[in-house]
Amino acid sequence: MCIAIEDIALGTSGYCISLETLAMHNSIDRNKYLVGIGQKNFSITPPDEDIITLAYKAASQIITKNNAKNIKFLFFATESSFDNSKSAGTYLHELLQLPEDCRIIELKQACYGGTAALLLAKSFLETTGDKNAKCLVITSDIAKYELMSNAEPTQGASSVAMLLSKENDNAIALLEHFGGTVTKNSNDFSKPNYMRYPFVNGKLSIVIYLSFLKQSIKKFLSEFNLGIEDFRAICYHTPFPKMAYKANDMVQKLYPELSSGRYISDIKEQVYYNSEIGNSYTASLYLSLLSLLEQDCNDFTNKRIGMFSYGSGSTCELFTLIISESYKQKLRKEFNLKLIQNRKFAEYEEYKFFHDFTYTNDTEIPVSSDSVIRLKSIKNHVRNYELL
Ligand code: HMG
Repeated sequence: MCIAIEDIALGTSGYCISLETLAMHNSIDRNKYLVGIGQKNFSITPPDEDIITLAYKAASQIITKNNAKNIKFLFFATESSFDNSKSAGTYLHELLQLPEDCRIIELKQACYGGTAALLLAKSFLETTGDKNAKCLVITSDIAKYELMSNAEPTQGASSVAMLLSKENDNAIALLEHFGGTVTKNSNDFSKPNYMRYPFVNGKLSIVIYLSFLKQSIKKFLSEFNLGIEDFRAICYHTPFPKMAYKANDMVQKLYPELSSGRYISDIKEQVYYNSEIGNSYTASLYLSLLSLLEQDCNDFTNKRIGMFSYGSGSTCELFTLIISESYKQKLRKEFNLKLIQNRKFAEYEEYKFFHDFTYTNDTEIPVSSDSVIRLKSIKNHVRNYELL
């Protein structure tokens, strides 16, 4: 029995900043950001948007009265958590009106958290006796770095929600193999509780990412007795678009037989959403998948897609999806493009205000968002959301 991704949806914030604006303010050659990093714009969150509002925007598109009652496990993957105990999923459980017998858990292993969530959801669905059971996997993150730091152009925010069930005619893709895992304690990126922004050794992180990718592909192919030609495309964790190009170039060098006109020569379409939205940690890989399926005009029906998931600290895994026949009808290409195009462009001062905003208890949050949901206040340590 296979486990299916029955639906997948994107949520991002209502605001973004252009990398041209940022480059001008930081007195950096714009081409370093636009070409060197490969980023055009990135989503930024006003104070009344957080990982819950992003997640709600994504998940509410795929939850209906009919399927909600069958959701038996909500996995919430994030590394932008605001609470060390109460899981972000608790808020979503209420907002989405999920059933009382739905389990919830928040997962953390840097950007790998979403992939761990998929793997756990798959195991749960394979073992439960309930044939109608579904799992909701939510990846939601806000990447923030210090102003004027080298990492500043690689910020972003989004959520990708996925509904998983046992194989049925309604699938977008089937989960196939998981493997090629590599784990090593490394200090490329972390977010100590006493620090406001991540501690990041950017150059080291790139070296580790590429070294893990190289080992992971070799291991994966040998574990499942596959050849590189069995992949129709590979999506890479994309902290910034140039990273995916570096990854793709390395794979081509490792397997030169691929350079003869296959997908792998150009990954422009698969990083398009990332180049607009920026890094959204756990969601980034799934954003790239959506971008590939919606922006690349090739037909991926019955094709195998490799998904390279990397989480600093560090662990990585490669897994494969087999794309289903009805995938194009189920995607929300026009909606997602509008979501991206309709964001308001912030000027530098507004971006700085959003970036530096500090949450405290007993605050009414200033109104910025005017769509779907907003964080209204924090009172007696309870976050209050308002559906619009
Ligand atoms: P930097 O050190 O300022 O950048 O920051 P640089 O000097 O290396 O320049 C970047 C590129 O721009 C270079 O190209 C330059 O040549 C080029 P490359 O050599 O890489 O091909 N460049 C120009 N191009 C055109 N015109 C110009 C120009 N000037 C320079 N005028 C860095 C870059 C990525 C290190 C920084 O932004 C950073 O630290 N980012 C955060 C860390 C990160 O994203 N790491 C990626 C791998 S780790 C990962 O993905 C995990 C993560 O998502 C976290 C998690 O798992 O939770 C981050």
